[in-house]
Amino acid sequence: PKVHRIIEDCRQEYNAHRKPVGNVGETYSNTLNYANHQANAALTKVVAMSPREVIAELTASGLRGRGGAGFPTGLKWQFGAAAKGDPKYMVCNADEGEPGTFKDRIILGKHADMVFEGMTIAAYVVGAREGIVYLRYEYSHLRPHLEAVLEARRRANLLGKDILGRPGFCFDVRIHMGAGAYVCGEETALIESLEGRRGEPRNRPPYPVERGFNNCPTIVNNVETLASACCILDRGAKWFASMGTERSKGFKLFSVSGDCTHPGVYELPWGITVDQLLETVGGKGAKAVQVGGYTGQLVPARQFDRKIAYEDLGIGGSIIIYGPDRDMLEVAENYLEFFIEESCGQCTPCRDGNVKLLEGIRLLKRGTCSNRYLNDLIGLSETIKLTSKCGLGQASPNVIVALNAHFKEEILARPIQGH
Ligand code: NAI
Ligand code: SF4
Repeated sequence: PKVHRIIEDCRQEYNAHRKPVGNVGETYSNTLNYANHQANAALTKVVAMSPREVIAELTASGLRGRGGAGFPTGLKWQFGAAAKGDPKYMVCNADEGEPGTFKDRIILGKHADMVFEGMTIAAYVVGAREGIVYLRYEYSHLRPHLEAVLEARRRANLLGKDILGRPGFCFDVRIHMGAGAYVCGEETALIESLEGRRGEPRNRPPYPVERGFNNCPTIVNNVETLASACCILDRGAKWFASMGTERSKGFKLFSVSGDCTHPGVYELPWGITVDQLLETVGGKGAKAVQVGGYTGQLVPARQFDRKIAYEDLGIGGSIIIYGPDRDMLEVAENYLEFFIEESCGQCTPCRDGNVKLLEGIRLLKRGTCSNRYLNDLIGLSETIKLTSKCGLGQASPNVIVALNAHFKEEILARPIQGH
């Protein structure tokens, strides 16, 4: 596809990596379908449809949640519409904290109108009157812009009472700032934080769609999901579903960082291989690629023919590229330090287990970890994955499991430090 390039400063994204890798100069932002969206075209069409028709269109499009987990959006809205409880809330999760992820920042900066349009559509469908954007603390600089867009929408009767002249369709949006905790991106921790408590994940079920903010039905959607819903409801489910693969429809924004010539945000169809993506961003010769941010999957070079799609690597759109000279144990150390710092501490396996994994990685770095102890660490990893309450703990050991599977020779063949 023709690439629509906007060059931006992306130092912020790199600062989010605690040990920055790769190019820090510029990012290429290619958000063609969003850039082409005609303002409020989807909302105008939707108010002439019934909520049931909107859900059917979204379901037919195959749109899956763009926060990372890929839950079918049409189904979530259907649950939201059917949920019993009053009031209902529409929450936009803009707590984009996954290291290596910065696509929502681009959408909020360039296409905020679409995010609010998507929220308004969701509110129409499920019957919510209040919308909340939970904005990542590190994105505070975007708040004045977002407030200005909201104000303009109120003036244009795109928010407020009787939206677009439709009696009884009332909805408004407020912005709630996060305070810098990664775990608040987890939807139930986000809701705890909204309610004024420590951001600690709850047990699910019940899912927020049933019992969320203030114990009321709450639809939580990612920024990109809402923007994509606008494209679909304007241009049609067929158009969207004609892109991508059987189980991964449409296009997706990829945040690309690390050892490549052109880091940035790219709009690409699902189903491209890791190799094709590396070619596009100038990352050929890499030794590994992390797909899906730190909670995703580390893919070694011999698997670069794998597809980025729910059929194969269906783990979100954050791509971190590791060049041939990267020390993979340093990479793993960085991940574990991050998870230890960000763990909310509720579950012992996550709180203490990750400290043990980090100790093990440091032993490996020093060349003083036996194969037997490494196997014990893999056993501990399985325990942490199985017994942690939320995605943070469930994914934190992925990196050590991947090193054991793909880089064992490299990590066990280190000279003992100081010898
Ligand atoms: P999940 O698969 O448990 O849930 C995904 C969504 O589907 C949630 O909104 C949940 O409420 C809904 N859902 C699932 N089953 C449901 C049911 N039976 N009924 C009603 N609703 C249901 O995934 P989770 O734990 O919410 O998120 C994990 C993902 O988050 C990971 O894939 C990770 O990639 C991603 N993530 C993204 C970050 C970012 O900055 N974008 C940061 C950290 C993680
Ligand atoms: Fe908190 Fe970790 Fe448990 Fe998640 S897995 S609830 S971050 S302790």
